[in-house]
Amino acid sequence: MEKKKIIRKICLLGDGGVGKTSLISRYVLNSYSDEYIRSIGTRVSKKVIEYDDCELTLMIWDVLGQKSQKTLHAAYYRGANGVLLVCDNAREETLLHLPMWKQDLMEVTGSIPLIAIINKADLGSALSKDALAQVCSALGKSPMYTSAKSGEGVQEAFETLGSEIIEVSK
Ligand code: GTP
Repeated sequence: MEKKKIIRKICLLGDGGVGKTSLISRYVLNSYSDEYIRSIGTRVSKKVIEYDDCELTLMIWDVLGQKSQKTLHAAYYRGANGVLLVCDNAREETLLHLPMWKQDLMEVTGSIPLIAIINKADLGSALSKDALAQVCSALGKSPMYTSAKSGEGVQEAFETLGSEIIEVSK
């Protein structure tokens, strides 16, 4: 029997320099490259995930250039079916900002599947237990650890989000 085909849009959000573009490059290309579909202000890359009963095509949106929260256009968020909220293991303030990114997005999208990522797991952690507990409670879930540099946890993070998207699509 042919698998059900599903196409969904996901966004990566988080402060500057936390590794959003690097995570996409690692996941989609297993390296850095310019092989992206370019459009003004954003680039969209595509990755197909095979599950037992369906084939999920993720359209992964990355914002080029200015990425501060205030300058992000709602058009970037619109139609998103899932989000990876990314922070940096070596900068605590990027973790503390995740709930703001979530709120900003969900004002446009409503509630959608979300995975929080602590990237740069290859670096020493600068995150206090208090900050982690505060953010876990605000997001309603624990973050996953990734390193775009080593590849650790990257596929798992995207595929966990993919599974949650499939669940809400059923
Ligand atoms: P903006 O474009 O400013 O929003 O940044 P971004 O979130 O897309 O981050 P980007 O992927 O450009 O990475 C920022 C810097 O962090 C680069 O110098 C990367 O090489 C570095 N970096 C990204 N991921 C990792 C990682 O897992 N480990 C380490 N050690 N460095 C990383």
